[in-house]
Amino acid sequence: MATNTLTITDNRTGRSYEVPVADGTIRAIDLRQIKVDDEDFGLMSYDPAFLNTASTRSSITYIDGDRGILRYGGYPIEQLAEESTYLETAYLLVHGELPTEAALAGWTQEITHHTLVHENVKHLMEGFRYDAHPMGMLISVVAALSTFYPEASTVDDPEVRAAQAVRLIAKVPTIAAWSYRHTRGLPYVYPENELGFTANFLSMMFRMAEPRYEAHPALERALEVLFILHADHEQNCSANAMRAIGSSKVDPYSALAGAAAALYGPLHGGANEAVLKMLAEIGHLQEVPGFIERVKKGEGRLMGFGHRVYKNYDPRAKIIKQVADEVFEVTGRNPLLDIALELEKIALEDEYFVSRKLYPNVDFYSGLIYEALGLPVAMFPVMFAIPRTAGWLAQWLEGADDQEQKIARPRQLYVGAKERDFVPLEQRAGRELVAV
Ligand SMILES: CC(C)(COP(=O)(O)OP(=O)(O)OC[C@H]1O[C@@H](n2cnc3c(N)ncnc32)[C@H](O)[C@@H]1OP(=O)(O)O)[C@@H](O)C(=O)NCCC(=O)NCCS
Repeated sequence: MATNTLTITDNRTGRSYEVPVADGTIRAIDLRQIKVDDEDFGLMSYDPAFLNTASTRSSITYIDGDRGILRYGGYPIEQLAEESTYLETAYLLVHGELPTEAALAGWTQEITHHTLVHENVKHLMEGFRYDAHPMGMLISVVAALSTFYPEASTVDDPEVRAAQAVRLIAKVPTIAAWSYRHTRGLPYVYPENELGFTANFLSMMFRMAEPRYEAHPALERALEVLFILHADHEQNCSANAMRAIGSSKVDPYSALAGAAAALYGPLHGGANEAVLKMLAEIGHLQEVPGFIERVKKGEGRLMGFGHRVYKNYDPRAKIIKQVADEVFEVTGRNPLLDIALELEKIALEDEYFVSRKLYPNVDFYSGLIYEALGLPVAMFPVMFAIPRTAGWLAQWLEGADDQEQKIARPRQLYVGAKERDFVPLEQRAGRELVAV
């Protein structure tokens, strides 16, 4: 009769062990009982980069990479992109359910009324160099917020946690927009309570001398959809950073600054920039087949293609492609789009890409949209961090409530020198002593 266990025979000792299997996993700690003798520490699993290790139970985001499925709280990303707003989606991620009308009104009111930052935050930002990278500014200023809200360190209090989540979702767009204004040498624009989340962000970014900035509704909606698509992606590098840093019970501003730092890396939040560079380098439609041949020979990668988890069309890429069409109708067609479309067309039919299950990912078209909205490349990771703030907070809040979690602390396989005696400096062979 089938039982939900795994029998492991240790061929070093001939002993067998029965380990429970639940939800398609075994618990790594169950391996510890497997020892060659009493002195043995016990068997561990070795999993660099967590390729096959679940670090948590989560009910926030579901991905089926083989089938190209992404859902927040069970709701398909396609439906959320079509019918929801970013703030409603943020509520879903943070609270686990879609809000009622009253709850959404309360949530919107709360977020709207926390968009302002202390004037000293502004002074702090003014201290950056004129050409400071906006993502470097965002990371630093988010970390600095912990000094403005010392009560945030009481992370065991659910009410304190909830209050900081509201503050962060509200203030990150303000800091993001101001980091852009700073690099442009423009005065910072204060948030306006009458505007919606995305309209307010666009106003803080682009308002000049006019009394009120009116964003084009199609562009505002396009950005709203991008925010929804980027709001969470389960245990990716930055979400894992948020949870790991948060597991030390530090305040969420410090943890979120760490998560944003993880996002800053080119392997995480920076691929859309690489796509734009690649399209510009290709330059002309007729160069596309030659470029594809070079990729197939291993002389570079088709950026914006392939994904560790999706082995099918990234569902976000499909939606983004549609959004791109709507944006270009307003802004005019970016000639690089034709190159992107041609690359996609050829790659989707080419055996090299088909056999390796390489499909467009979220970054293939997002950079083109950001560029059409008038954003410099340096702002791309910042644009990612704004909506991902909700995802990071959802992951952090879930971790804080999870009774199974402890401080995140992996094991290692030590491969360094065995114990040896200290060698005095003058006796170290082959090295010159340098007088300082
Ligand atoms: C995303 C990415 C890092 C995932 O990598 P991964 O899961 O570790 O996959 P691998 O690097 O093992 O690649 C598997 C195979 O596909 C090939 N491959 C993967 N992505 C490719 C790409 N974008 N262009 C050409 N070939 C690619 C690899 O060369 C490898 O081929 P091989 O089996 O002949 O050696 C990778 O697909 C990539 O570099 N993509 C481009 C960058 C990008 O768009 N990143 C944004 C992700 S959201």
